[in-house]
Formats: sequence, structure tokens, C-alpha cells
Amino acid sequence: MQPLGLLFLLCSLMATGYCISCKSCWHLQGTPCSGSSVDCATGEVCVAAVTNTLLITGPLTEQYTLSCGNPSQCDVNGSLTFYYGSIRTATSCCSANNCVPPTPTVPTKSTVKNGLTCRTCSSDDSSYCYTGETMECTGNEFKCGRMARSLSGSVTKKDAIRGCATKSYCEIIGNQVTSIQGLNVDMKMYCSDGATALHAAFFLSAAVLLLTKLLF
Ligand SMILES: *[C@@H]1O[C@H](CO)[C@@H](O)[C@H](O)[C@H]1NC(C)=O
Repeated sequence: MQPLGLLFLLCSLMATGYCISCKSCWHLQGTPCSGSSVDCATGEVCVAAVTNTLLITGPLTEQYTLSCGNPSQCDVNGSLTFYYGSIRTATSCCSANNCVPPTPTVPTKSTVKNGLTCRTCSSDDSSYCYTGETMECTGNEFKCGRMARSLSGSVTKKDAIRGCATKSYCEIIGNQVTSIQGLNVDMKMYCSDGATALHAAFFLSAAVLLLTKLLF
């Protein structure tokens, strides 16, 4: 993390409009993606994200994105599992002009139950869903979470997923407001430890994690 800290400091001192440029693009079926490069905000780095969406009703979708992002978004991975499938994401970063980070490795799904039970539901046309239906969580998904997402621009869509999530998905991955190649994504996670009231998770703008496939 030292190089990133140093970069942030130098950029702050220079107080210029931007520091580095990064490629900004997305592709729905894996690497690579191509697109123009954009100027990042001070302190930002180039972030690559891979998001695998697996639905019991369809094939695996592997989404790849490149964008500017905050260093807090680097080298994180996490997942959100619900009754009909799962979303698994990992990121990596680099900090040179228009660099392409190493392709991140998405965590594998655990089948070991961890004792937590969460409500689970999904909506394909609303950013809210609620249900009495529950599921048993596995692996390191120690949070119950609801994702609310709106896409606009080249794709217009709202959806919601409620299920078991990792802490990293609640705090970082699931909270993004970004715009890449004409697609605007606004995504928020509302998580709890399972029993108590839901509370809003952090809000961070970051590398985009797009899921333009329909949920059903
Ligand atoms: C996911 O993140 C955790 C915590 O940082 C780490 O221990 C694990 O190795 C990562 N998994 C992958 C596949 O990178």
C-alpha cells in the first residue's frame, strides 16, 4: 500500500485536476475490454473488477470492468448469495497511467454452513424486495444484506437482491456510484448481522460492478 499512499500525497500537493488516466470500459463475457481512457480524480488508481453472476436459471455471466477507483477498492473480494443464485466479485489495482491490473481471482463458493440465517428474495423491476423466505448462509457470508441497484443510460433497470453477504460486499463492493461507457450504476447495500435492524452501509464511489443480465 505504500506506493499508493505516496501517490495520494504527491497528487494532493500538486493540487492539479487529475493525476493518472485509466481505461474505462466493461465487457460482459470476461477479459479484455476496450474503451477510451479517462482522467481520474486525485489519489485514484486503475481498478479491474471481475464479477461472476450465477443464477440457477441460467449460465454463468462473467463481467469485467476497468475504471478509476479509490485505493480502498483494491484487492478486495466478496459475495452475495440468494435463493436463486450468487454474485461473486474480486478487484485488483495498478497505479501507472493507463495500466491494466492483473486479472483478479473471484472467490469460490463455500458449501459449509456458518450458522447464520437470512431472509432471501429478489426483484427484477424494483430496488426493493421483502419476504418471509429464509436461507442458511455459508462460508464467510456473515451478514444479511439487501442490494438496491439502478442502472441507467445504455441499460435501464432496477433490481434488488436480499440474502447472505460478506462484510466486504456490504461495506465496499456493494456500494458504488459510477458511470462507464454510457452505463450509469447506482448500487447500495443495506446490511445487518442477522437479527437487528438494518442500517445503511458505507457509501463509496468506486470501480463499477455491473450486472446487466436479467435476474430471471
Ligand atoms: C479474498 O479476500 C480474503 C480476505 O482479504 C483473502 O484471504 C482471500 O485470499 C481472497 N480470496 C481470493 C480468491 O483472492
